[in-house]
Amino acid sequence: MSPGAPIFELKGVTHQFGGSVALSDINLQIYPGEQVALIGPSGAGKSTLIRLCNGTLLPSQGEVWVLGQNLSHLRTEALRQTQQKIGTIYQQFQLVDSLRVIHNVNAGHLGRWSFFKALTSLVWPLEVETARAALAQVGMAEKLYARNDELSGGQQQRVALARVLVQDPLAILADEPIASLDPERSREIMDLLRDLSAKTAKTLVSSLHAVEFAHSHYQRVIGLRQGRILFDSPTDQVSAGMIEDLYRLGR
Ligand SMILES: Nc1ncnc2c1ncn2[C@@H]1O[C@H](COP(=O)(O)OP(=O)(O)OP(=O)(O)O)[C@@H](O)[C@H]1O
Ligand SMILES: [Mg+2]
Repeated sequence: MSPGAPIFELKGVTHQFGGSVALSDINLQIYPGEQVALIGPSGAGKSTLIRLCNGTLLPSQGEVWVLGQNLSHLRTEALRQTQQKIGTIYQQFQLVDSLRVIHNVNAGHLGRWSFFKALTSLVWPLEVETARAALAQVGMAEKLYARNDELSGGQQQRVALARVLVQDPLAILADEPIASLDPERSREIMDLLRDLSAKTAKTLVSSLHAVEFAHSHYQRVIGLRQGRILFDSPTDQVSAGMIEDLYRLGR
C-alpha cells in the first residue's frame, strides 16, 4: 500500500441479498487514522458496509479495496492475512461465554497462531502478559481469569476491545458497539474506542444509532439511507436538517 493511500476504498459497490438491494453504487474512501461514524435508519446498510470492509461479505457488483488489495481477487490465505489487519467489534460482543477472559482476549491471536498453538493455549494460556496489558488498557486487568459469563455487558465489550488490541490491527470496525449498553457504559466504550484509536493511530469506523456520539466522538460522519450515501461530511458540517432528512420516515 502506498503512503497516503486509503485503508478502505469502495468503488461502485452494490450489494444484494437474494433479490433485495442492501447497498447501491457506493463510492467511498477512508484514510489511515480517520475516525468515521456511520449513521442511518435501521436497514440503511450500515452492517452490510462494515461486513464488506472486513471481507466477511464480497460485493455483488463493484470493488472493495482494503489496504491496497481488491478483496474479490484474493485467495483464501491472502484474504485471511488481510482480515487479520482489520479488527471488528460487534454489538453482541461475540465472545465465548464459557471461557475465561484470557482465552477470549487471546482469540485476537487466532489469525496468526497455528491450530496446535491455539489448542495448547486453551490448556496453558500463552502470552499472558500481552493479554494482561491489553486488559489493563481497557481497565479490566483484574478480570484476566474471570469467566466471561460472570461479566456485565459493559465489561464484555471491554474484553472484546482487549481482544482487538491483542490482534493489533491497522483499523477497527465497530458495528453498533454500544447498542446493548446503558448510557454511562456507552460513553465509556465510546471514549475508549476514540482514545485507543487516536493513541495508536488506528483507523476507526463505527456504526451507531446514537447520533449524539457521532457528533461528539468522530471527525467524519457518513449518513446512509436506503443503501445510498446521503451525506459524507466533516462532523462540524453536519446540520440538524441533514440528520432530520436522514431519519425522515418514508421515501
Ligand atoms: N443476511 C441477510 N439476508 C438477507 N437480507 C439481509 C441480510 N443482511 C441484511 N439484509 C438486508 O439488507 C438491508 C441492509 O441491512 P443492514 O443490516 O446492513 O442494515 P443496518 O443499517 O445495519 O440496520 P440496523 O440499524 O437495523 O442494524 C436490509 O434491508 C436488510 O433486511
Ligand atoms: Mg446493523
